[in-house]
Amino acid sequence: MCGIVGYVGREQAAPILLDGLSKLEYRGYDSAGICVYDGAALQVAKTKGRLQNLIDLTRGGASLPGTSGIGHTRWATHGAPSDKNSHPHMSDGRKFSVVHNGIIENYLPLKEMLEKKGMQFHSETDTEVVANLIEYFYAQGATFRQAVRKAVARVEGSYALGVLCADVPGTVIGVKKDSPLIFGYGQGRNFIASDVPAILKYTRDVVYLNDGDLLEMTADSVTFYNTHGEVVEKKTEHVTWEISAAEKGGYAHFMLKEIYEQPKAVRDTIHPRIREGRIVLDDIQFPAEYLKNLRRIYIVACGSAYYVGVHGKYIIENLCRVPVEPVLASEFRYADPVLDDTTLVIIISQSGETADTLAALREAKCRGARVLAVVNVVGSSIAKAADDVLYTWAGPEIAVATTKAFSTQLAVMYLLALYIAQELHTLPPERYDALMAALQRLPEQLEEVLSPENVTAIQYYAAQYFNNRDVFFIGRNLDSATCLEGSLKLKEIAYIHSEAYPAGELKHGPISLIENGTLVVATATNPALFDKTMSNVKEVSARGADVLGITIRGFEDAIHKTMDSAIFVPQTEVLFQASMSVIPLQTFAYYVALMRGCDVDKPRNLAKSVTVE
Ligand code: G6P
Repeated sequence: MCGIVGYVGREQAAPILLDGLSKLEYRGYDSAGICVYDGAALQVAKTKGRLQNLIDLTRGGASLPGTSGIGHTRWATHGAPSDKNSHPHMSDGRKFSVVHNGIIENYLPLKEMLEKKGMQFHSETDTEVVANLIEYFYAQGATFRQAVRKAVARVEGSYALGVLCADVPGTVIGVKKDSPLIFGYGQGRNFIASDVPAILKYTRDVVYLNDGDLLEMTADSVTFYNTHGEVVEKKTEHVTWEISAAEKGGYAHFMLKEIYEQPKAVRDTIHPRIREGRIVLDDIQFPAEYLKNLRRIYIVACGSAYYVGVHGKYIIENLCRVPVEPVLASEFRYADPVLDDTTLVIIISQSGETADTLAALREAKCRGARVLAVVNVVGSSIAKAADDVLYTWAGPEIAVATTKAFSTQLAVMYLLALYIAQELHTLPPERYDALMAALQRLPEQLEEVLSPENVTAIQYYAAQYFNNRDVFFIGRNLDSATCLEGSLKLKEIAYIHSEAYPAGELKHGPISLIENGTLVVATATNPALFDKTMSNVKEVSARGADVLGITIRGFEDAIHKTMDSAIFVPQTEVLFQASMSVIPLQTFAYYVALMRGCDVDKPRNLAKSVTVE
């Protein structure tokens, strides 16, 4: 996730671009840059670090003359945060400048093709390919707009682009697919941006572009084109939100916004790693024969990331037949773990900076294990220290309680398990194909989980139960792992005492705590274990518990035989079902916290990144 902004008008562009970027820092903040046409050529200023560095470098924009330009605030995906990887990216011949939000999935073959034509590259990014591709088509006689259109036709992946051309001063082109882009109408000035806050100070009349739309704007005009190059009219919307709400995309809290971003985040994480029906993990380079000799996997992490590891155990063991042990990072260090070069240690961390997790990583390396990190922040300490890194492409997560990072980490567990299974040939081809098909359907199904009917039902149950003092989460197998996360969410943001237990284990102790009105959330998404979990539900109902079920569609009648209250999610492969069921649990915790008047985004005593032991 990155933020882009573009401006054409009569005032100096640079200060307006910097101001716009300051409202987009929530979309990325590892580097920032702007490019303006100064009357003679395109001038770029860009630098690693916070936007303030760019403001200092350009004296608040004063050092860059010119009345048209583009700007970017970066959340690194391809290439670590650095000056040279910062946007805007210039084409090799310095005719074009590009800012990009998204991921160009086929940038490597495109880069090779352009290098063969003699073009040079100066960064490690996927974006630079777009700048050079536009220049390549322009050199063949295309106009500015035709060159952009031809370039995006060759690109696979997601993009919102802002483009400047040195030969066409006073014009900015914007184009989008699967990443957000809006246009803002000004008086004698026009704007593009990733999001409304960037331009709200200047205009409230905006156009939300659709996938495939391209726009060409000058100070006094804008023309919209569809995918076929035909001129189209677009509907103008009048924004009525205030800036504080707009930064959260109109949502009341970052957590809610991030809950709704999950289908996209999971799509961004999975999609680029599937080619021709197979998993391709370009980012990891295991030595030859390494997987064949693999004897054991440890998954080491803290908090929610550790619970992803608990899911990972079920998934990887099932598909790869390699023993997997999830361990809390704070324990792993001091547990004298048995490690050697036949052990893979998977480290999971959203921030990439958690002190316990980083220390566990170092311990694992010292003891001779290979370390693969699953991290959301490019260039973070854990990413740098690991042998291999698989990034989750969730974008910046602002709410302290994780939601979209958790979901993308889970998606990486699926990718990794299928990758290892593919390399070790542990799955019959039909099973592999069925899992791959299910994996590709997942983002769409996650959108269904967040249907208005489901969210209304969750709000209703939250209203019913928000005053409970004790909550139990029960489930079997992978459902019991998901319960751990559901319970943690409720503790973290709603400050309710809750416990997660494998459903069959309840009778060995904790059932003594069930009394009239205790809430039990029963997650039962595995058809083979459904009846067993329902038996456990009956045990708690008989002792006075109120039960809320989470199950799959098709089990409506079956679940209503045992309980009245239930939430339904689409069915997928049992191994991927947790991605569906965790969302109602997060959303339930969110609404319960809201009804209890808690500070949802900044819960008491907690920090987003814990850099102390
Ligand atoms: C903190 C956060 C948790 C998070 C954990 C691990 O405790 O509050 O939400 O799961 O750290 O963080 P990491 O950045 O390593 O995933």
